[in-house]
Amino acid sequence: MADNPKIQQLRELREKAKLGGGQSRIDKQHAKGKKTARERIELLLDPGTFREIDMFVTHRSTGFGLEDNKFLSDSVVTGWGKIKNRLVYIFSQDFTVFGGSLGEVHAEKVMKLMDTAMKNGAPVIGLNDSGGARIQEGVVSLAAYAYVFQRNVMASGVIPQISVILGPCAGGAVYSPAMTDFTLMVKGSSYMHITGPEVIKAVTHEEVTSEELGGAMTHNTISGVAHFASDTEEEGLETIRDLMSYIPQNNTEDPVYIPTDDPSDRMDEELNSIVPDNPNKPYDMNKVIQHVVDDGIFLEVHEHYAKNIIVGFARLGGYSVGIVAQQPQNLAGVLDVNCCRKAARFVRFCDCFNIPLITLEDVPGFLPGVSQEHGGIILHGAKLLYAYCEATVPKITVITRKAYGGAYDVMSSKHIRGDINYAWPSAEIAVMGPDGAVGIINRNEIAKAKDSDKKKKELVEDYRAAFANPYVAAARGYIDDVIEPSETRPRLIEALEVLRNKRDANPPKKHGNIPL
Ligand code: HXC
Repeated sequence: MADNPKIQQLRELREKAKLGGGQSRIDKQHAKGKKTARERIELLLDPGTFREIDMFVTHRSTGFGLEDNKFLSDSVVTGWGKIKNRLVYIFSQDFTVFGGSLGEVHAEKVMKLMDTAMKNGAPVIGLNDSGGARIQEGVVSLAAYAYVFQRNVMASGVIPQISVILGPCAGGAVYSPAMTDFTLMVKGSSYMHITGPEVIKAVTHEEVTSEELGGAMTHNTISGVAHFASDTEEEGLETIRDLMSYIPQNNTEDPVYIPTDDPSDRMDEELNSIVPDNPNKPYDMNKVIQHVVDDGIFLEVHEHYAKNIIVGFARLGGYSVGIVAQQPQNLAGVLDVNCCRKAARFVRFCDCFNIPLITLEDVPGFLPGVSQEHGGIILHGAKLLYAYCEATVPKITVITRKAYGGAYDVMSSKHIRGDINYAWPSAEIAVMGPDGAVGIINRNEIAKAKDSDKKKKELVEDYRAAFANPYVAAARGYIDDVIEPSETRPRLIEALEVLRNKRDANPPKKHGNIPL
């Protein structure tokens, strides 16, 4: 058959396409420690499952010598394949062709892929490595970007969309990832910015490196634009494979069930002593999570950003759950601007994709301060409140210690459709902590006392005994039960089971108006 000239031609064309912008540009890419577009796809997908489409597409543009400068596949590789045996659609920008820049046909390939993914209800994963809009194509490339953005929005909440940043992503190249559900960046080789260091220097006279401006850790720690950081491309793509195992194919399906050898009735005595006697002493909520979930495996999202709240995926009894938990080790687990934004987005993702929410609560309240108020804590706190109120997935809460003030309401309380709300015996559920409360309601009494300090101490103790416990809330049914910490895993798995067929809905509307 190889002697058949037409088949020979096909094979040669395929080989030519696989060279992208040519061997010298591939060598440059490798010299930077970066893989090519097709090598990355091979790393991400199950071996041998990638089916490439639109390999023979070339651009139709003229001017700037473009008519003599065409490459098969143009600057993006598209197709489908499998991750852990489940279908995904994938596009991978080829930096060796016009710097991965997006022009008319690049966008057409991505749009075809997204439309097919939407019709078939499967995730889209984008591997991004792009200089942004293709400069030679002018306004056509701006239009092309906009068509992709529109599809990102139409797909949002219908199919999962994941972005992996594997090189410079400039200009329009950052907005499509920003509208997807999760973004991963590789340390030292990926950058995201609207305008680069040179433009910034010219306009604002600020001097900044690409790394400081938009490197992986900048977006993982300061801006919160990225959810994951990895040391290498291989590690990053492995994280994406892992992430996909927790999320369903689309908004009408449930995440896959993965059987576990970790017993559903496993008790954990260590949890009984994890909360310190002194309510002002921190403890590590990550430990609580690890002790409770299947095999202690937790995929943390936004690990480096707003560390006073922890969000991420785990399994309980084989079923995927989204966990939102205060971290008492960081800012005492207080709610501030950044952590509210972080948690609100995560809650909304889980609600979009039928992933039950487990809330582990130890919150002293909202962070006081001028910078918080001026930074819009009202607005951002309202985001988290809105997200929890709106969510109709099963919502299960365990109050491990503090649940004070408005933060008690926000964190998936019974009053905003929390389904099953438990508290540990160490829980303190009240309008505010004993010191603050006594300082306000007993101010005169304390001032008049012979020994004010002693009086205040007594009143604080009285308040603590009366209110800083779970039983006042439990007496009203705001807490369904007070449980021993050691039985948290079995109780959560049972709660998930009894909520398995939960059906709840919000009133029909065009869309809500979440405080943005
Ligand atoms: C066409 C581009 C390109 C672009 C890079 N190239 N960016 N071609 N359009 N936007 C080409 C280069 O000409 C070069 O071609 C090859 O890609 C590699 O580029 P280098 O500069 O050699 O690589 P490197 O030094 O690694 O720098 C990469 C880079 C830089 C940081 C991305 O190229 C760069 O700053 N590009 C411009 C970024 C930008 O301003 N884009 C426009 C944004 S406007 P050869 O032939 O030599 O291999 C925008 C508006 C959309 O996106 C708005 C929508 C909201």
